[in-house]
Amino acid sequence: MKRRQLLGTTATVGAAVIGAHAIPHKAWAASSLSRSNALPIPPVMVVNNQAHGELTAIESSHAFSGERQSPTLGYNQSYLGPTIRVRRGETTRLKVTNKTKNAITTHWHGLHVEGEVDGGPHSDIAPGQTWAPALRVDQPAATLWYHSHIHGQTAKQVYSGLAGLMIVDDPRAPSTGLPETYGLDDIPLIVQDRAFLADGTLYYSNRGPALMHGFRASEIAVNGAIRPQAQVPAGLVRLRILNGSNARIYTFSFEDDRTFHQVASEAGLLATPIAMRSIQLAPAERAEIVVNFTNGQAVRLLSTGDTNSPMGGMMSRGMLHELGGSPAAVTSDGRFEIMRFGVDASKFSSVTELPKWIAGAPLLPDWGKPVRRRDFSLDMGMGMMGRGRGAMMGRGMGKMMAMGINGKPMAMDRIDLTARVNEPEIWRVVSSQMAHSFHVHGTSFQVLSINGQPQPFEQTGMKDVVLVDGEVELLIRFTRKASKEFPFMYHCHLLEHEDAGMMGQFTVQ
Ligand code: C2O
Ligand code: CU
Ligand code: CU
Repeated sequence: MKRRQLLGTTATVGAAVIGAHAIPHKAWAASSLSRSNALPIPPVMVVNNQAHGELTAIESSHAFSGERQSPTLGYNQSYLGPTIRVRRGETTRLKVTNKTKNAITTHWHGLHVEGEVDGGPHSDIAPGQTWAPALRVDQPAATLWYHSHIHGQTAKQVYSGLAGLMIVDDPRAPSTGLPETYGLDDIPLIVQDRAFLADGTLYYSNRGPALMHGFRASEIAVNGAIRPQAQVPAGLVRLRILNGSNARIYTFSFEDDRTFHQVASEAGLLATPIAMRSIQLAPAERAEIVVNFTNGQAVRLLSTGDTNSPMGGMMSRGMLHELGGSPAAVTSDGRFEIMRFGVDASKFSSVTELPKWIAGAPLLPDWGKPVRRRDFSLDMGMGMMGRGRGAMMGRGMGKMMAMGINGKPMAMDRIDLTARVNEPEIWRVVSSQMAHSFHVHGTSFQVLSINGQPQPFEQTGMKDVVLVDGEVELLIRFTRKASKEFPFMYHCHLLEHEDAGMMGQFTVQ
């Protein structure tokens, strides 16, 4: 009896995620379920000088589709968390309480704040404890996010649900002219791939190929619902899309290949809307797009498959299975479904025409001459970091994998570099074997070039994540300090790589 109870507890609470060697034989597929899965809209939590916010990380269970429950983690709710709206020019306190069984952190991804309150791996919140950082917000309007960042467990905790959106509003900026009624014509989409066992349990692996490629899965959840349907007004609708997946790279497009406009990248608005038919988002990247639904037609949002792999996209079926699988294609060109949009004539969008220029967009940085250059190589390899025994293939592969930056795996007690406040630098980042999603804490940067091709600022805007597939040059500058007790991180945002050591630490003095 005792043993039974113990097992029961472990299965439902202790393990929100199955970290399995076992490959799921009967993976659960949502395809047979009814298509009335409405897109959930995360509730808004407005915080400012007066109104502080509270997040409580909890263990829960969540229905991704139909009635079936999956053990999950969430902030204030069963899965994911509220959309926190912070205001430029204000200081707000966010109280984070950890009611889960394991240590967590809560990192404000993209927010320009000091290392002390950034919520990185050194700011762990033990079970039962509360952390209450004061966040002094001073950056342009942007769609950011927050997520747990406990070293070595980030991937599992984010996969289980410890993430949410954060929107920076700038009350002093002129009106953008873009749709901005949250949930109506300004809709957040947190896109994540998930795999399920037959009993509904989330399946996860970070071993072998799942470590090397990053974990991918065959079911697509948006805001915690599998391939949901949103009802939108017959007008212009702004979508704030976050790739909240651990490792999957999406290239989004609509089934009818309609043109849409990108209006913002990670760190703020673009100066002018950019017309496009598809947009790629690597893990942790965000984009805001405006889509025209005036023709009243229902349409599916699709994505092409992800071929990012150290084997040049040549993955065997067995490997895909171990990774959690690939979503089923719904078009002859191999695209799969993310979600559906239906048009509801009783809803109205506030904006009928896209502005030519977007007021309040961040300007091209005018930081003066860069004072130094730094090189980063994102390394993954077997035995190349001094400790390997060269067991390249087979079952031991995961254990032999070494991930690091500039030849060193992340160490909590080692500071890798020191930057100085307000000194612009050029960072050259080089990937090895496959593309990596490179992210830097505490600031945003300009992408100068990708594989030698200069990047027009008007098209990229300010960013905090960039996909490195070859070589990327960034112009970066820090305005907030970070001590050696609470350093900033730079890392690959393929969370399996990050947890395995593709991360470094720096101070800003
Ligand atoms: Cu999205 Cu170091 O984080
Ligand atoms: Cu971050
Ligand atoms: Cu990586």
